[in-house]
Amino acid sequence: MNQDLESIQADRPKIITTEIDAISYYRKMDTKATVTEMIAGKYILVEEFYSNGLEVLNELKRELLLKHTDKNFQGQRDYRSAFREASHRLLLKVKDNKLVVKKSPDIGWLELLYTDVSEFYVSFPDVQGMNSSWQWYLNGIEIKTLNLRLHPFYSTYFPTRFDHLKLFDKYLKRYEGSKDNAIEIGVGSGILSFQLIQNGFNNIYASDTNKNAILGVSKELKRLDYQDKITLNHADLFEGCNLKANLIVFNPPWLLAKHTLEEGIDKAMYYEKDLFPRFFEQAQKHLTPDGKIVLIFSNLAEVVDKESSHPIIEELQKNNRFRKELHLKRDVRASSRRTKRRDSRENEKVELWVLSPKEKK
Ligand SMILES: C[S@@+](CC[C@H](N)C(=O)[O-])C[C@H]1O[C@@H](n2cnc3c(N)ncnc32)[C@H](O)[C@@H]1O
Repeated sequence: MNQDLESIQADRPKIITTEIDAISYYRKMDTKATVTEMIAGKYILVEEFYSNGLEVLNELKRELLLKHTDKNFQGQRDYRSAFREASHRLLLKVKDNKLVVKKSPDIGWLELLYTDVSEFYVSFPDVQGMNSSWQWYLNGIEIKTLNLRLHPFYSTYFPTRFDHLKLFDKYLKRYEGSKDNAIEIGVGSGILSFQLIQNGFNNIYASDTNKNAILGVSKELKRLDYQDKITLNHADLFEGCNLKANLIVFNPPWLLAKHTLEEGIDKAMYYEKDLFPRFFEQAQKHLTPDGKIVLIFSNLAEVVDKESSHPIIEELQKNNRFRKELHLKRDVRASSRRTKRRDSRENEKVELWVLSPKEKK
């Protein structure tokens, strides 16, 4: 049985529904003076054309770069945060769930995410984010390994590289265990669960802490006619799950957070220190005696910082709960010879770990 998905409110950009005190910006106005007002704290409302907003943002970038000349890490961070703060004061008006200015993109999210309101102001950068997400959603992403297109919901993690899917496919093709039940933690846009289904698992429990991931996958289940195969839950790890599974799958965030995590997509990239200990402790209780945990991971943290620890190796070394059954690795983008990487991520590898519970003595 699915959780009552109707009661889940999607995460969406903040909007202003009251009248605002803003400076109207038209073509040929003094952009520099407008930007000065914006930096000082005034709202600017883009009038006429969508492209007028782009002009203001370009000028804002120019102005702030003149002030933030420090090229070091902190300097760049300060620049980005100043840009973020000021640029969100550049607003667009929405009426009947559409942008009012001319030559603006058609963005379905303005309707789908705002069913309760049709007229409001929204910041230009948020509109840009929704626009790019809408293109991904409309066009979809071709997943060759599965022979399907994925349509990722707004503010949901989706893969742009597919090496880990190939590793998982390889594992599923040689998997000989029982296929009664599987659990996927962190379902994202659904891809690993769809791989499970295509490989014969028909009873999957999937959770995610990101509401939009759950809403998005529920739409995908209808589209792909997989509704009776997956139970979705907006939850932390195994919360509310009563199943014991033959396979527990988790493609977790790969980087230890050095900042306080926000709800939503932030948790797709970064994890808090206790995530893995909590996962392993709960996973042990949700495995059948011959069950397996499959974790997708990467050496990205190590590539970025040599001193970083590896949470799966740490679990195997510290606790006597699981033994390593398999560890596959694959170069990221190894298949493309033409785009040989020369950046700091050149040595990046994706990993697939299979752990099984140690027998209790
Ligand atoms: C790297 S993404 C993987 C998404 C998808 N499974 C895939 O492979 O494309 C990690 C996902 O885990 C989710 N997540 C992070 N912490 C979680 C937690 N404590 N419980 C459930 N899901 C979590 C994130 O919201 C995100 O959707």
